[in-house]
Amino acid sequence: QEVKWDVDSATKEGYDHFMLKEIYQQPEAVRNTLNRRLDENGEVYLEGVHLTKEMIESFNKIYIVACGTAYHAGLIGKSVLEKALKITVIADVASEFRYNDNLIDEQTLVIVVSQSGETADTLASLREAKAKGARILSITNVVGSAVARESDDLLYTWAGPEIAVASTKAYTTQLIAFYMLALYFGKLKGSLDAHSYKEHVIELQSIDDSIEDTISQSMEIAKEIAEEIKEAPSLFYLGRGLDYYTALEASLKLKELSYIHAEAFAAGELKHGTIALIEEGTPVITLATQDDIYEKTVSNIKSVKARGAYAIGITTHKHKDMEQVCDKVIYINTTTSTYMPLISVILTQLIAYYTSIAKGNDVDKPRNLAKSVTVE
Ligand code: G6P
Repeated sequence: QEVKWDVDSATKEGYDHFMLKEIYQQPEAVRNTLNRRLDENGEVYLEGVHLTKEMIESFNKIYIVACGTAYHAGLIGKSVLEKALKITVIADVASEFRYNDNLIDEQTLVIVVSQSGETADTLASLREAKAKGARILSITNVVGSAVARESDDLLYTWAGPEIAVASTKAYTTQLIAFYMLALYFGKLKGSLDAHSYKEHVIELQSIDDSIEDTISQSMEIAKEIAEEIKEAPSLFYLGRGLDYYTALEASLKLKELSYIHAEAFAAGELKHGTIALIEEGTPVITLATQDDIYEKTVSNIKSVKARGAYAIGITTHKHKDMEQVCDKVIYINTTTSTYMPLISVILTQLIAYYTSIAKGNDVDKPRNLAKSVTVE
């Protein structure tokens, strides 16, 4: 028998696609990004970050600038940094940021996020901010990339090479980078007490196992959802707070891979327009993992359901009442609300992956898209 061999199948290591391989690599990628920055006492140390307590105290705002999936990681970063540092954090897409006359000076920290470290708009934003005197901290996956070379402070995600155009493990490791920055800065500044710091570290240390379980538990249900949504002309993801940011990433992934018109909406904004788009059978996937706003989200599901939506809910095991308002409920592993984005996004990656397959699309190289956009 003839053995077929090519570079692709060799590096896919038995997986059908790079994307699936990269989804499976997430527990390890997250572990690498985290453990290389924790000492034996569970203290975060960031060797590429040279910011002192005085410098952190001198910042009056932080901008987070990125494109695509990296921008979605930045939105989560905004939320956790704001909480930990108690200062204003603004996340913006690089293509807007670079041309806006932003109020930036020496008291601004600009955090640039880029898997490749070569995205044109992101790099231009970095240079623009630097010229105005801002301090630049970057989160990137590629050692020695342009973004890495031009930054004052650097945090590498140890995701390893990401080949599939649709980003997965780069995203989850970018989240880890933000969580670590929040802990590191919060402790240095004194805005995060020692007890919560320890609790956060402990929670983060078990997240890789939780991601691993989520991957294996989500396979079958993701295939099932893919079959249900593959013919839909349009689909909506809803969520509040961190769930809204995950919804943005989930809908981006789905549209990139399935070519279904998919949009994310802040659940509370529904009545200001979006609800007009709901027809009989329109799939609406709602993420409801944030306990403090859970009830509010449930009432939004009721509204879309009353207009004929096919309602799919994603939540944690304690919220069994979700079954009364949704056509289908998917339960995912529970961790602290802050870290739920690391769990819920896994399921949405798999939904996008299997919908792409169900439609016969090119999973690793979706039409019209590039892995790295190095021209404007
Ligand atoms: C392209 C890729 C996305 C990526 C974005 C930003 O659109 O297809 O997956 O999120 O660029 O890339 P970067 O390398 O800057 O993170």
